[in-house]
Amino acid sequence: MSVSEAVAARKSVRAFTSQQVDPADLRRLLVDAAQAASGGNVQPWRLWVLTGEVLETFRAKVRGLREEFPMGQEPEYDVYPPDLWEPYRSRRFKNGQDLYAAIGIPREDKAGRRAQFGNNFDFFGAPAAVLVGIDRRMGPPQWSDVGMYLQNVMLLAVERGLATCPQETWTSWHKVVYETLDIPEDVMLFCGLAIGYEDLEHPINTWRSDRADPSEWIDDATLRAQ
Ligand SMILES: Cc1cc2nc3c(=O)[nH]c(=O)nc-3n(C[C@H](O)[C@H](O)[C@H](O)COP(=O)(O)O)c2cc1C
Repeated sequence: MSVSEAVAARKSVRAFTSQQVDPADLRRLLVDAAQAASGGNVQPWRLWVLTGEVLETFRAKVRGLREEFPMGQEPEYDVYPPDLWEPYRSRRFKNGQDLYAAIGIPREDKAGRRAQFGNNFDFFGAPAAVLVGIDRRMGPPQWSDVGMYLQNVMLLAVERGLATCPQETWTSWHKVVYETLDIPEDVMLFCGLAIGYEDLEHPINTWRSDRADPSEWIDDATLRAQ
């Protein structure tokens, strides 16, 4: 598989089969992804891998709190800036609309939407999950380094026939994460990453998100002039 093919094939998968991920393969993938570039080569990513009993115990703990907090607890950081503006506001809105439409949940079905959103907190049923953190003292440049690492993980996963979904929504459960796992106080949870094999039968996975027209974000007049 070429890099171009992996980039084109990668998508966020929100339903997984029960097939387990080989632990040695998963570790290899996570280690190989660290070939990512990072400013000053500081490699600021920190990872906690959840599989088997540890993952089930963690899931059960979150499940126990979901009735009280159906949309999660207080997030540790703003996933989006408050009062998101255009064009980002519309893009975000459309993404949500398209996702719910793909699984036949109409706009007025608030309970259905809540239930689908709540699947985030089950890692969408994935057999493996990674929690990704970063030293709290790091700033935007290092957060972007973590993003590059994550992209490598997701592309290497595609190459191995695995599927992923990055999940910022886990910031809403940071308290449970810190209570349950041995994460040093100076590390902040950035996101979760569900990993497993795509459930090809599930309608949510048949949907592909679209992209803004390149003219909205690239000024390539010099290229076009040539
Ligand atoms: C850092 C990051 C966090 C994300 N968090 C979530 C999440 O919490 N829940 C979710 O369903 N999708 C999440 N996504 C997936 C995005 O919605 C998705 O990448 C976007 O809609 C584009 O679709 P694609 O990944 O299928 O190409 C996240 C993506 C990124 C990069």
